[in-house]
Amino acid sequence: MGLVPTMGNLHAGHRSLLARARNECPFVIATIFVNPIQFDNREDLDKYPRTWEADVRLCQDVGVDAIFAPSIETMYPPQSSTFVEVKGLQDLLCGRHRPGHFVGVATVVAKLFNIVPADVAYFGLKDFQQTAVIQRMVSDLNFPIEIRLCPTVREPDGLAMSSRNSRLSADHRRQATVLYRMLRRVSDKVSEGLRDVSQLRRYALEELSSAPDAVLDYLEWVDPSTLLAVDKVHQPTVVATAVQFGGVRLIDNMLLEPGSPS
Ligand code: PAF
Repeated sequence: MGLVPTMGNLHAGHRSLLARARNECPFVIATIFVNPIQFDNREDLDKYPRTWEADVRLCQDVGVDAIFAPSIETMYPPQSSTFVEVKGLQDLLCGRHRPGHFVGVATVVAKLFNIVPADVAYFGLKDFQQTAVIQRMVSDLNFPIEIRLCPTVREPDGLAMSSRNSRLSADHRRQATVLYRMLRRVSDKVSEGLRDVSQLRRYALEELSSAPDAVLDYLEWVDPSTLLAVDKVHQPTVVATAVQFGGVRLIDNMLLEPGSPS
């Protein structure tokens, strides 16, 4: 059984996860649950788009066998008081800016893994830190499930697919393409042999400055499994960023794979 956990508002990124699950598993289940405990602010939770009919259509279109869409009361009855912490990983990158977010993610994913007897679960690499947190949780708590990670799906202009994109104004939607350009610039510089993170950062910020309304939350080069910052790109490294446009916070990342060290 293949499981694709989602919060609904399904887009081409989710479709690719569901399609891969469909391809690889005889039975595919999608979950749709807007998990209140992973939202660090009430406005974000209220504004999260609920698009049930369209989501069901997309699932039917891909050939999903079942959708599990529990109520908040089912997932969090009033007496519930157990939460999953993935110490260290949960506090870095987005964790610094969104306190409690990854406890919410780890807790709901642990519950879904216990409720749905899946063999394999699919997650998108756009939420890179989330995949690191979930993989660590699965390993630490011996969940009998295999995690498969799927590449980020992008709009033709490079913007990573996200439910938040629909909240951007037309101008900010245009400006947001800078994220992918910035990551590509870094990746190109690494391919040219640059290894020093402070120099790579300079190129990245130069690119980012072309978007007048971009407000940088973070831009970091990290080890893919520990998420700890590195200052040289000698090993596979993830460059991860979060940038706000008009109050809409977007994240993106890219794996940098240096050739022989220079
Ligand atoms: O990536 C998401 O949509 C959510 O964080 C997840 C994994 C479904 C948990 O609520």
